[in-house]
Amino acid sequence: MVKVLVCVAWPYANAPIHLGHVAGSLLPPDIFSKYQRLHGNEVLMVSGSDQHGTPITVKAEKEGVTPEVIAERYHEINKKAIEGLDIEFSLFTKTHTENHFEVVTDMFMTLRDHGFLYKKGTLQYYCPKCEKFLPDRYVEGTCPSCGNEKARGDQCERCGKAFEGGEMVNAVCVHCSTAPELRETEHYFLKLTAFQDRLIDWISGKEEWKSSVKLFTKNWLEAGLADRPITRDMSWGVPVPLPGWEDKVIYVWFDAVIGYLSASKEWAKRTGRPDAWKEYWADPSVKGYYFLGKDNIPFHTIIWPAMLMGYGGLNLPYDVPANEFLTFKGDKLSKSRGNSIDIPSLLKSYQVDALRYYLAVNMPENKDSEFTWEDFETKINNELVATLGNFYHRVLSFTFKHFGEVPIYHGTEAQRREVMEAIEKARAEVDENLQKCEFKRGLKAIMDLAQFGNRYFDSVGPWALIKKDREQCGSVLYLNLQLVQALAVMSYPFLPRSSEGAWKLLGHQEGMLNKGWDNFAVPLPEGQKLLEPKPLFSKIVVEKEDPDAAFRGFESLNLKVGRIIDVQNHPNADSLLLMQVDIGRKVQIVAGLKAYFTPEELKGRKVVVVSNLKPAKLRGYESQGMLLAAESGDLVTLLMPPADAEPGDQVSSGMTPSEKQIEFKDFQKLTLKIGEVQEDGGIDVGRKLRCRCPPGLGRSKVPVFLPSPEANECLAFFTEKGSFITADERLPNGATVR
Ligand code: MF3
Ligand code: ZN
Repeated sequence: MVKVLVCVAWPYANAPIHLGHVAGSLLPPDIFSKYQRLHGNEVLMVSGSDQHGTPITVKAEKEGVTPEVIAERYHEINKKAIEGLDIEFSLFTKTHTENHFEVVTDMFMTLRDHGFLYKKGTLQYYCPKCEKFLPDRYVEGTCPSCGNEKARGDQCERCGKAFEGGEMVNAVCVHCSTAPELRETEHYFLKLTAFQDRLIDWISGKEEWKSSVKLFTKNWLEAGLADRPITRDMSWGVPVPLPGWEDKVIYVWFDAVIGYLSASKEWAKRTGRPDAWKEYWADPSVKGYYFLGKDNIPFHTIIWPAMLMGYGGLNLPYDVPANEFLTFKGDKLSKSRGNSIDIPSLLKSYQVDALRYYLAVNMPENKDSEFTWEDFETKINNELVATLGNFYHRVLSFTFKHFGEVPIYHGTEAQRREVMEAIEKARAEVDENLQKCEFKRGLKAIMDLAQFGNRYFDSVGPWALIKKDREQCGSVLYLNLQLVQALAVMSYPFLPRSSEGAWKLLGHQEGMLNKGWDNFAVPLPEGQKLLEPKPLFSKIVVEKEDPDAAFRGFESLNLKVGRIIDVQNHPNADSLLLMQVDIGRKVQIVAGLKAYFTPEELKGRKVVVVSNLKPAKLRGYESQGMLLAAESGDLVTLLMPPADAEPGDQVSSGMTPSEKQIEFKDFQKLTLKIGEVQEDGGIDVGRKLRCRCPPGLGRSKVPVFLPSPEANECLAFFTEKGSFITADERLPNGATVR
């Protein structure tokens, strides 16, 4: 048994954590720790909320609340989200605690005593309008290094460059957009230059590190280290523990990395052995792993190690397996740019293990990876459910049904060996990769074994065997159960719930963790009662964004080609006509067209009729539909069905029109216009629209449907035969249809 220290980057408490945090820095250490614990090792896994610094104060000012309110709110939210994801910390604490203040103060004073801190006058941004210094995120501007125009004061998010005062191009105050000036102020500096050689030495021994982490660190070191100010002109944070420094605090990054140590001390106090932290920090044989996203690399491979060297007596990081970013539609899943997918609602919709599986299989280990809903759905349904879930379920349910217990093994040693060798091969691959924090490869070895299981189950065909040779069937099922057990144990670090679920269904009384990793291959006790299985994973259906959603309004209109059979003057109204129209059935329509057409002009004409309008009585006569007309000033014309149209033909835009009645007031909300077809297929309705029309729209004036008056895309009307409805050539573009 060994001890392992697992340190996890502290999420800022200025927003809810998102999937990027989970895939990048929270899930990997949890997989690693669960794996270590399964091996019987003792893991101290710590992190907490990073509650200081300008990320918190900027947010608090925006909301008009104190920084404490923000820091506590998101601490609680994030703690819950982490627990909901079955991520188990020994302690997930926060930086705004007495314990943390003490440990930071001790680090500060010790480094100062050791000669690694000094004070110096420096130039800092100062907003003349706000009359305040502008530390870190209070200034925005362009990065002089990569040209990122959205760079923020302390560090460029895009290229990782850390700024010195005055370096940013076109800097502005985030409050008032005033260009800040540089003012002299005094700060404490960390003497990073003193560690340059020792760091280079230390890094050179880290051949096993991920190449991206090593390269990034080496480049930093080769560029030459500069001493860095570690205090700020603000009031939220850990106070500088010296008289005369009351209006300054310690820089958030200097304070946050110390969190690993302070959280370990807090954990030790809580367990009642206040010195227990030393077992993880002062014993040089104990390895410390630091999990984080790539933007945090220099703080963990240069600054924190330098601080530890300067302090003395504490272990430096053993490995820093930093990840790249998980992106969502091409953007970094950043909490500050507003496109996150929130964890509580994901947890409501999907199984924890489904989320964990997808984030593990799609982990940005060596390059950025992308979250897409389609990919999520495919990987869950085709891999997790169809491969692992299917194997678990077919084996467990078949055996339960026919035996109800672990059957007796009567097979040969050779048969058993075939299966045990497959298990052993997967075991070796999982071990090799998880020890190196290569999680995707580890998971792949597990899924390969599940696939082997499915093939094996198929090849031995228990459903046929059970009819011919029950004993032999029991033997092959025994081996299949052995595979289920191996999968349950090995997948535990990734998929703890389903894995414990499968373990229990095998009838084991004792928990899997107690049994430990080595039990993945112990022979199952023959005759052990199985539990009645239910599927451990379920298929998911991701609600897709409907690309046609905007056009669905047109479906509410059921339009038909009609022919006017008979026209009479309305007996009770001067302006109305009473018509009988054939739309595949005969309907009566009352229309206010008397001022524009004589009955003779209308009789026999083909028209477009709204056939699902709610019938209404007009001056005593029921109107069961409406003719579509286009009008502009005095010009009123009827829409024109094509030559091949017959009464009753459906008019639509390729969708299935609703059979439901539509109220006249809802019809009035739809935007129907006359437009002119352009050479490039666009349509001019007074402005140019794109048209979602099938080819063949040759005539120049046509009615179109717009999803909204401001839409820039439209639909044309055509019949079930594919011919277009047209309109009078004299109508101006943009004329209304009603
Ligand atoms: N809060 C920082 C971030 O979200 C990470 C801090 S990690 C620590 O980028 F090492 F400082 F704790
Ligand atoms: Zn300002």
